[in-house]
Amino acid sequence: MRQKLVAGNWKMNLTYPEALALVGEIASLAGESGAANAPTVVICPPFPFLHGVGQQLPQASNFHLGAQNCHQKESGAFTGEVSAKMLASVGCEYVILGHSERRQYFREDDELLGQKLKAALAAGLKPIFCVGESLETREADETFSYIGKQLTDGLFHLSNEEFAQVVIAYEPIWAIGTGRTATSAQAQEVHAFIREQIARAYDAQAALDTTILYGGSANAQNAKELFSQPDVDGGLIGGAALKAADFTTIIRSF
Ligand code: PGA
Repeated sequence: MRQKLVAGNWKMNLTYPEALALVGEIASLAGESGAANAPTVVICPPFPFLHGVGQQLPQASNFHLGAQNCHQKESGAFTGEVSAKMLASVGCEYVILGHSERRQYFREDDELLGQKLKAALAAGLKPIFCVGESLETREADETFSYIGKQLTDGLFHLSNEEFAQVVIAYEPIWAIGTGRTATSAQAQEVHAFIREQIARAYDAQAALDTTILYGGSANAQNAKELFSQPDVDGGLIGGAALKAADFTTIIRSF
């Protein structure tokens, strides 16, 4: 079901004590705002911090634990890797897949991402599936065809039931970690396009029900404006998720 959602992607940052301090601070700041219309919040720390951070999340609340990646196989001789089943066993409910940093630095392609999606869903995790264009693609006026292809090749092979578990994040690569944010109009335009593609691939109800997040230098100052767009259901937050006060302001920006 479509929901208001803010996810914090901590990436490869912090030590364990720092991670515990950050989640503690977020819990005490955001805990006060347990309003009925509070958005779903997903905290995505690095693997070794998952269990500990999960223990510190406010109980019985809108807070959930997510991972930043998973391996496509359930178990086996894959030294250094972490399976979706392992993530679920430490309390994860979400997993980010297809982030541009994984696509670019770790050569994750649509075929591999397809396998990871299946593995995540089989383990009962909700994938947060990222799409987004580079600056070159945007300047060549190919944003829509590029994202359309990412959706078709990467995501729309899922069954209706599987797709219903997926959250989509639109993250223009040129806006990630650059301090350069898409304007709310640019975000809305792409989000509306994504919703249209879902309606074509599945049906109108699926399009209405899908949560679509914006990511890319979203922060405490611009979140309200971005979240006010009709097709922007929340954010996938990087840098600003590492500052408790900023992250809490973002959570309260609906
Ligand atoms: P950013 O990262 O907010 O630091 O731009 C967003 C992301 O990569 O998820």
